[in-house]
This record gives sequence, C-alpha cells and structure tokens, in this order.
Amino acid sequence: MRKLVVGNWKMHGGLDANAALLGALREAGGQGCPSAVCVPFPYLQQAKSLLEGSAIAWGAQDLSEHAVGAYTGEVSGAMLNDFGCRYAIVGHSERRALFGDTDERVAAKVDAALAVKLQPILCVGETLDEREGGVTEAVVERQLKAVFERGGAAALAACVIAYEPVWAIGTGKTATPAQAQAVHAFIRGRLAAWCGADVAARTTILYGGSVKPQNAAELFGQADIDGGLIGGASLVAGDFLAIVAAAAS
Ligand code: PGA
Repeated sequence: MRKLVVGNWKMHGGLDANAALLGALREAGGQGCPSAVCVPFPYLQQAKSLLEGSAIAWGAQDLSEHAVGAYTGEVSGAMLNDFGCRYAIVGHSERRALFGDTDERVAAKVDAALAVKLQPILCVGETLDEREGGVTEAVVERQLKAVFERGGAAALAACVIAYEPVWAIGTGKTATPAQAQAVHAFIRGRLAAWCGADVAARTTILYGGSVKPQNAAELFGQADIDGGLIGGASLVAGDFLAIVAAAAS
C-alpha cells in the first residue's frame, strides 16, 4: 500500500496546542492509513514522547545538507535521528522561494537524509507563472533530475515525492483532480524512465496544496495520487483525521 498522509505544521504550534493536537491524533489511532506529522524542530521531542508507540510517525520540515560542523543555526540529519524522526521534508517551495534552497542544495539534502536513513519527502512543483507559461513539466522534471543526477536512481527511489503546485499552497486554490493527476502521472513516468517500472510503481507520490476534508477523497481517488502533504488542515485534529480517513477508504 503506497498511501500516506503527512501533516506539515510549518511555523505553527506551541507546547499546549501541540499536546492537544498530538493527543487527539494518538487517540484516533492510524485510521487504517499510514500518517505522520512534520513539526518545527523544537517540538520534535514532544512529538516523540506523545506519538511513540502510536500508529503515527513524525518528522522534520527540513535538514542541513551538512553532516556536522560550523553551520550556525542548522540541524543535521543525525540530530533528527536522535528524536526518532522517520521523515524529513526537503525542498518545500517555501524553502526554495524564501530561503535559497536551489535544486542542487535540495539534492544534497536528500543525500544527507538518506545517509542517516531518514526518508526524504521531496517537494516539487511549479509557480503560477510557470504553469501559465506552459513549463510545468519542465520545472518538475528539472527539480527531480537534480536529485537523480546527484544521487542516482537509488536516491530518487528512496524518496516520497510530493507534488505541490506553488499557486495552490495556502491559497485555498486546489489543483483540480485532473490537473494534479496529470502531473503525478508525468512524475511516475519520469521515475519509470530513470529508475525502472518497479520503482515507479511503488513510489508514493503525494499531492499538496489546499487539501481539505472536502476535496481529499476526490484527489486521492486519482490513479497516481497516493495521499497528501497537508499544511493548514493538519493543524486541526478533526480535519487532519478526516483527510487520513479519506486516504484509507
Ligand atoms: P496547504 O500547505 O495545505 O496549507 O496549502 C501544503 C504545504 O505547503 O505542504
């Protein structure tokens, strides 16, 4: 089963609010579909202590491309391992647009995650200008190819991939199921060409961008959409759980 639902809390949360949210997720159990939450670094210990032994995994929203050293403010993959992380989001469009994560740095971060056996959730996606300019596939291909060129088929094969059209993130504008499916099918086709049909068939490709309980089932019903990367709706226990339930059914 390839389905997966991952919450991306972004820079939201606080000890009390997190305890309530994580407690509600824990209580609900896994709902028959693998799920995880990617929380801000300072709350990893809290996620570990409240989710350990539950069906819900946890992870970080980024990591350094370096293993150790004089990199003030950075967090290494080994440090994430100390807190039991299973996943690290890599190349989120906010990191790319606001914090200078180039395709090459994203590829280096994928390598850094894999070096310590964290599973990267590799985000790709086009801006509105790029979509309107007709270069969606070229952009997504370039972003994937940077990982392939650095780490080979093994690196790409080890990732969860998240297609997140930048114009749909936090805007309330969701890609239509058909728009999302078309790009997901394109991504699976690239994986087949570079990594082989088996890898393409078993890779989890998530959709992200304004996924809500109301649109989740239709998105997840598409042939190549294997679940979601959920921002805003992952901050509300009932919404996140409803999305996980939609992926399970
Ligand atoms: P959103 O964010 O669900 O709030 O649109 C998704 C994401 O950025 O991962």
